[in-house]
Amino acid sequence: MYGWRVPPPRKPEKNKQAFEQERRDKVDWLIGQGLLKSARIRQALLKVPREDFIPELYRDYAYQEVPLPLPGEMATISCPHSYPLFYESLGLDQGHRFLEVGLGSGYGTALAREVVGDDGLVVAIDIDPLTFAYARENLRKAGYTDVILVQGDGGLGCPDHKPYDRIAITAACTEIPAPLLEQLATGGKLIAPVIEGDVQNLVVREKTAAGVSTQIVCQVLYVYLRGIYGVSEGLHGVNRP
Ligand SMILES: C[S@@+](CC[C@H](N)C(=O)[O-])C[C@H]1O[C@@H](n2cnc3c(N)ncnc32)[C@H](O)[C@@H]1O
Repeated sequence: MYGWRVPPPRKPEKNKQAFEQERRDKVDWLIGQGLLKSARIRQALLKVPREDFIPELYRDYAYQEVPLPLPGEMATISCPHSYPLFYESLGLDQGHRFLEVGLGSGYGTALAREVVGDDGLVVAIDIDPLTFAYARENLRKAGYTDVILVQGDGGLGCPDHKPYDRIAITAACTEIPAPLLEQLATGGKLIAPVIEGDVQNLVVREKTAAGVSTQIVCQVLYVYLRGIYGVSEGLHGVNRP
């Protein structure tokens, strides 16, 4: 899967206690790596059972640092460390209005719901109907019924609920879709993997009254964005005419 070595599917054997221990160990590891600092993000990672957002045959690998396949075309649940990487870089916090482009499994949506709390808002979009249905069911089963889920092209954002304080694009693009920058609040931040030559840079863009600034966090490896602002496979171009 784009340079990642995905472990083979296998019947799950781990029980709830084993997963809980792995979750606590993962949080300790993330803190040790300097990837996790915020108390709210830490609480969210401890609370949301990542294993419940993973297809049965990959469930036992839930806390391994590898993306795992999901139903749908080119969809994965990202590695565990990428969630604090995105949310710490965004400074995601209580009360934020958050838009996620690339709902995937629904795990990142559930974490964000925990971080922003009752006075915040979470809107999440996926373009793939199979992936979308999978995530919606995961979120329903996990009790996250107070998130707004949209099936469609996230490159167009969701103007009904703008402006957003924070936006995460969880698929790689060659440019940040203009509608998303437009729907970002002044003072807001957007994070996305941006393809530059042969690499993907995780980029944070901050919108201020004076303009939009850009900061590169690190290199990453994500599936490509689809849709009107998507990447033509192998060409690194955008799909717009
Ligand atoms: C790496 S996965 C997202 C992982 C997800 N955040 C999670 O927690 O499981 C990228 C997702 O982006 C979705 N995607 C790709 N292009 C999209 C677009 N234009 N609009 C919305 N979703 C898109 C894919 O279908 C895929 O589910």
